[in-house]
Amino acid sequence: MTSSKAFLYLVFFSSFHFFTVFSTQFTVGGEKGWIIPKDDQLYNEWAAKNRFKVNDTLTFAYKKDSVLAVTQEEYEKCKSVHPIYFSNNGKSEFKLDRPGLFYFISGVSGHCERGLKMIVKVLEPASPPNQVADHTTGPSTSGAAQLINVVGVLVVSLFGAIFI
Ligand SMILES: *[C@@H]1O[C@H](CO)[C@@H](O)[C@H](O)[C@H]1NC(C)=O
Repeated sequence: MTSSKAFLYLVFFSSFHFFTVFSTQFTVGGEKGWIIPKDDQLYNEWAAKNRFKVNDTLTFAYKKDSVLAVTQEEYEKCKSVHPIYFSNNGKSEFKLDRPGLFYFISGVSGHCERGLKMIVKVLEPASPPNQVADHTTGPSTSGAAQLINVVGVLVVSLFGAIFI
């Protein structure tokens, strides 16, 4: 096989892995976006179907509405005086900057009560497979471990490309 083909394989495999390691952008609710749903659990069902990692971003697309990131208590009350995050520009981007739970509500009166709200769970950064049983290294190694992971896949895809 030609070297240009090998290069394409390399780019394909490494970029594929790059996106799985680094960040993903999700459009909340898919094509419909952030609108009052028919089913008041629609957004939690959408969130449950996805796997969110630290540094993934959520895009909220809507017209004449807003997005607030709030505490659990405020989520339950559908009301927030000082939200953690507020946006009403029609295309809000929110970065999931830590593991754990995030609570979102609409800031428009009555919309949250009608189901325009969502809980997102962000997973703890994953350990690479060869370190699953070893918890002594702590989270500070995860960046280096991810890099090793990327390099490993690069090497594997290079060999794959040469021998295909
Ligand atoms: C998230 O992004 C920040 C800043 O870009 C970076 O320092 C951090 O290591 C990233 N975290 C993960 C888990 O990718």
